[in-house]
Amino acid sequence: MKMITVKNNEELASLACSFVVDKINRIEAPVLGLATGSTPIKLYAKLVEKYKQKKLSFQKATTFNLDEYIGLPSDHPNSYHYYMSEHLFSHIDISPENTFLPYGLAPNLEKECAHYEQLIKTRGPIDLQILGLGENGHIGFNEPHTPFNKRTHIVQLDEMTRQANSKFFKPSEAVPSKAITMGIDTIMDSKEILLLVSGSKKRTALKHTLHGDVTPFVPASILQAHSNVTIISDEASISDTLLES
Ligand code: F6R
Repeated sequence: MKMITVKNNEELASLACSFVVDKINRIEAPVLGLATGSTPIKLYAKLVEKYKQKKLSFQKATTFNLDEYIGLPSDHPNSYHYYMSEHLFSHIDISPENTFLPYGLAPNLEKECAHYEQLIKTRGPIDLQILGLGENGHIGFNEPHTPFNKRTHIVQLDEMTRQANSKFFKPSEAVPSKAITMGIDTIMDSKEILLLVSGSKKRTALKHTLHGDVTPFVPASILQAHSNVTIISDEASISDTLLES
């Protein structure tokens, strides 16, 4: 894994943006895997800026998001459909029919998982998968102990994840307890992976991802087994022990 350390989330976003721009400009019909959460918000703002400056077009791009909550309608402000529209899709020239997220209100959720996998198989492979890192080491919503061979599936969210994500919800709103996520096996099929890590709360997870055993207890540790991973981490996410190693 290649690791690049930057000062803060602003620099992280600039560097990640250049990765994505390069990928989009070099590939005829790029397929991008996208993450939500706080970490990539500035990255998406920078991509929108590049688009507005006419330095980038998403006309030929296809996107697959990692995950979506079960039970939230697409127009719910905390759904990932809404997030993607707010932060990226509604500001750029991507065709809505080329943007994919799991549908968390599907009448048959198992079928929806299989359908999402099939779509990735048909339209993929994913050229560049962007990932964030959970405080508990999750990638997508693959929580600790998820077997590495899982494809898109339904998950029960960890209390730690629900707690971390409650920052996006009103105090009166419950964070959903279930989600659909691409599985680790699905993520590992991506040709290239860009893991973005920002903030001091990620220190332990990042340390274990980089230097710990490859174990389902730390889902991101599987990235050690992928041949093309770049990690961009800011200074706050680097623990002292990591600097020494
Ligand atoms: C989001 C996702 C999650 C987040 C992770 C970090 O689509 O799949 O794995 O990337 O929870 O979230 P933030 O960036 O909010 O710390």
